[in-house]
Amino acid sequence: MLSELTRTRLAEGAGTIVSAGPSRDLASVDGVDLVELLAEHGCVVLRGFDTDPERFSTLVRSVSSRITIDPARRFAGGDVAQKIEAGLVPQGLHVENGATPWVPDLVWFYCERPATVGSQTTVCDGAAVWERLSGRTRSRFLDQRISFARAMPEERWTSLVWRLLDGRRPQGEVTFDDLLEVTDDDVDVKYQLLPDGAVHYTYFVHAARPTLLGGDVAFANSILTPSVNYEPPVIEFEDGTPLDAMLMREILEATALETDDVDWEAGDVALVDNSRMMHGRRKIRDVHRSLFNAQSYLLPDIVDRVRHRRHRAAA
Ligand SMILES: [Fe+2]
Repeated sequence: MLSELTRTRLAEGAGTIVSAGPSRDLASVDGVDLVELLAEHGCVVLRGFDTDPERFSTLVRSVSSRITIDPARRFAGGDVAQKIEAGLVPQGLHVENGATPWVPDLVWFYCERPATVGSQTTVCDGAAVWERLSGRTRSRFLDQRISFARAMPEERWTSLVWRLLDGRRPQGEVTFDDLLEVTDDDVDVKYQLLPDGAVHYTYFVHAARPTLLGGDVAFANSILTPSVNYEPPVIEFEDGTPLDAMLMREILEATALETDDVDWEAGDVALVDNSRMMHGRRKIRDVHRSLFNAQSYLLPDIVDRVRHRRHRAAA
């Protein structure tokens, strides 16, 4: 169905905008079709559909095995979407929760009320950034992982674990063992419970790696992390080497050249592949802007079906 609708390019980059005809219900969007489009474009904006927070949540649930949140943001009603309130300053490009050991597959946005001016969300294709980086820099990131280290206050980590546990017990009863339980086995992280109940973690990850749906290597990470709501992490190479100024300059230049704006319209729903694209935002110039966010993990069955379809199409 999605393939029959008009598609336009999102600015200069890889992303796409799918425009619905008159009064087309968001519920008519097929989850596998949507994720297939996402595999191709990295970012899909659904525009002109009949949307509301309830329909948005239903769409998120239809393709997700688990829905997570950023505990530093307050709930918007319902239990899927959260209103974005990270101050007024611009936010650098980042992978959602990319400086933590709990990185979701997908980032979702629902625009209730667009800004009258500015305040765009930015998206940056990490696959294109990777192509722009020098051979020397690529080697450095292939040879070594990077690490993010910081302390997370008790209220924040217990809130997140409570969500990851799907509310199986009250937040006040969440324990350090629960934190270990909700951490995926393939994630390399060291935790330390501090006397004040905070948890210090050091999380190791490759700054560039194959994407979830496409297989191409993407430079997608939170090196340029904004950390509006938390203590900023210490970011360095795994062997303790700092990310020096020359390296940071190359990253800033390459990402700036691949960054596009999403100019929101009321009712827009957008989906971003968090394993391929980074996102951020321009400064907020209209405080009445209302944008909701959700984060989730893709259903493994949908990943398989999309990979299968793409494999068949390429054969
Ligand atoms: Fe974000």
